[in-house]
Amino acid sequence: MIRVIRVKDAAEAAEKAFEVMKEFIKPGKVLGLATGSTPLGLYAKMVEDHKQNGTSYKEIKSFNLDEYVGLPITHPESYYAFMHRNLFDQIDIPEENTHVPSGLGEDLEAQAREYDEMIAESPVDIQLLGIGSDGHIAFNEPGTPFDSGTHVTDLAESTIKDNCRFFDNDISKVPTQAVTQGIGTIMKARNILLIATGANKAKAVKEMLEGPVDESCPASILQRHDSVVVIVDEPAASLLS
Ligand code: PGA
Repeated sequence: MIRVIRVKDAAEAAEKAFEVMKEFIKPGKVLGLATGSTPLGLYAKMVEDHKQNGTSYKEIKSFNLDEYVGLPITHPESYYAFMHRNLFDQIDIPEENTHVPSGLGEDLEAQAREYDEMIAESPVDIQLLGIGSDGHIAFNEPGTPFDSGTHVTDLAESTIKDNCRFFDNDISKVPTQAVTQGIGTIMKARNILLIATGANKAKAVKEMLEGPVDESCPASILQRHDSVVVIVDEPAASLLS
């Protein structure tokens, strides 16, 4: 079941998302985290709440969705670096409780299977998601099987273009592959919180909520999940009927 919450703009989306997330910032909980521009407002709220109210992450675990293949963790645009800069370094979560898939290694597929095993041992209580302009969730591009586990994938042309802004607007600098939790992995989360803001997400949001459940729109699988909250701002909701 998907509950849709419509808000005015990205700032209000962050506030609503924090209200949902707050229920899960408790000892023993497992958070599924995401990167990209979308979660930044929510992460700022989590940091503010930690600093002002002392909300602790000492007994919380986290699993991130994905990582670029080939970027060392010291690269500022690696998702490892992103998570440390925007969240982990500003709260009290122990480093060993945080997990970001590695995009480096001899056998990425074996590492991907190990990542799924770790998640199976610590099931995710709430998975935060953005949505790609092509309907992707994590880096599961259109056509990815709905039952996929964590795997190595090629990025769609549209995703490489969308992410160019993080790499000096130079398309040749954008990694072309990523390690990503699969759609099957994501669907195992007990609850899902997807945030979509901005007009470039409107088409994907419409397909996710009103289209058929089809691998051409990876996010449409969420229609089959028991507990999903989708927060959409006005521009992202503009094509909804
Ligand atoms: P964005 O990316 O938050 O940077 O728009 C979302 C996504 O690709 O899932």
